[in-house]
Amino acid sequence: MGIIQSLICRECKKEYKPQFRYICEDCFGPLDVKYIYPNNIKRELFESRKEKTYWRYFEFLPIRDKNNIVSINSGFTPLQKSTNLSKDLRLKSLYIKNDSVNPTFSFKDRPAGVAVSRAKEINLKAVGCASTGNLASATAAHAAVARLPCYIFAPADLEPVKISQALAYGAEFVAVEGTYDDANRVASVIGDSKGIGIVNINMRPYYVEGSKTLAYEVAEQLNWQVPDYLVIPVGSGAMLNAICKGFEELCEIGLVNDVSNLKIIAAQPHGCSPIVDAFKSNSNEIFPVEKPNTIAKSLAIGDPGDGIYVLKRLKQYHGIAESATNQEIVNGILKLSKTEGIFTEPAGGVSVAVLQKLVESGKIDRDANIVCYVTGNGLKSTEALVGMLPKPSTVKPDVQMVSTIIR
Ligand SMILES: Cc1ncc(COP(=O)(O)O)c(C=O)c1O
Ligand SMILES: [Zn+2]
Repeated sequence: MGIIQSLICRECKKEYKPQFRYICEDCFGPLDVKYIYPNNIKRELFESRKEKTYWRYFEFLPIRDKNNIVSINSGFTPLQKSTNLSKDLRLKSLYIKNDSVNPTFSFKDRPAGVAVSRAKEINLKAVGCASTGNLASATAAHAAVARLPCYIFAPADLEPVKISQALAYGAEFVAVEGTYDDANRVASVIGDSKGIGIVNINMRPYYVEGSKTLAYEVAEQLNWQVPDYLVIPVGSGAMLNAICKGFEELCEIGLVNDVSNLKIIAAQPHGCSPIVDAFKSNSNEIFPVEKPNTIAKSLAIGDPGDGIYVLKRLKQYHGIAESATNQEIVNGILKLSKTEGIFTEPAGGVSVAVLQKLVESGKIDRDANIVCYVTGNGLKSTEALVGMLPKPSTVKPDVQMVSTIIR
């Protein structure tokens, strides 16, 4: 399994024993997992593995003992080569990383699965999360399998399906009357005071390790070639950072050749785009959005925890940040479903809309290799499409009447 050397501060590089801690006591910077890599890892090692989940990369995941893995068979999702969307956008090579088909229907099965496994490994008695919707179910499902109590803190106005789904896995759902940032503050204090492993707060160093498998899988599925562009939907920014970390690790151990030409696109919804705003005004500081207002509820994080690190990644990797309006998001959802047969929730619509916008404005090279991350399933937020689709024709079961409709 992964051999953790330490937790290292992202700011001052101070190292800590890998315990239940997440912030540097000297500078309050976030902590990341640092590994001792095994010698001589080859591409063939992974290619030969039968494990068709993200745990196939277990040497790079922070769990000491395989018996502590809590798996619901997430990951190794399709990297779908686009045929129709690429034709419509006149792109030479576009792939959709379809992470909407994970067991709880979003990419959050990756970070939640790793964090809950680690919680089991360090003997925590309960887990939980602050959620914009998808993490709730991902954490709850893994907690159910681990037989741990699970506490969800989320805004009360989430999509009803996301609340029902988390409740169905047996979680305690605390619906906070406020924004995600309010729910996050409550979860943070409760987690620390009661010793609950809040996967995206006090377990964050381990949590983000799950999302980096979105880089490993794409690299392996592309035969270890690094794409030119990655289009990534952004809320807190944790996933974008983790994907960058994933590609860097692959480079460090020699499984991919070079990541220096990678270009990162951060996609946010117009009604909650603090990172895009900072990027466009050339600021190194993020000004939180107090009241997010967007149909992309899963990206409605006004004060993104990893926002400044996304800005750094954009500088490092020739990046661009761009937003999409509600109408553009809906158009993005429908464009993807009608061209590629993939039905995504608004977060995926944001990715597709931003991809289209940047291609059409000439900021993405049409000849490049592009991977667009689609991270959540359309069935979770059908209300985003209310009033946007034609009404079905209702008829008596009469062939003659129906033939007047089908011309
Ligand atoms: C479907 C989906 N995509 C993207 C994101 C953004 O992830 P992050 O908060 O790590 O930036 C989220 C966050 O909840 C999400 O649910
Ligand atoms: Zn520090």
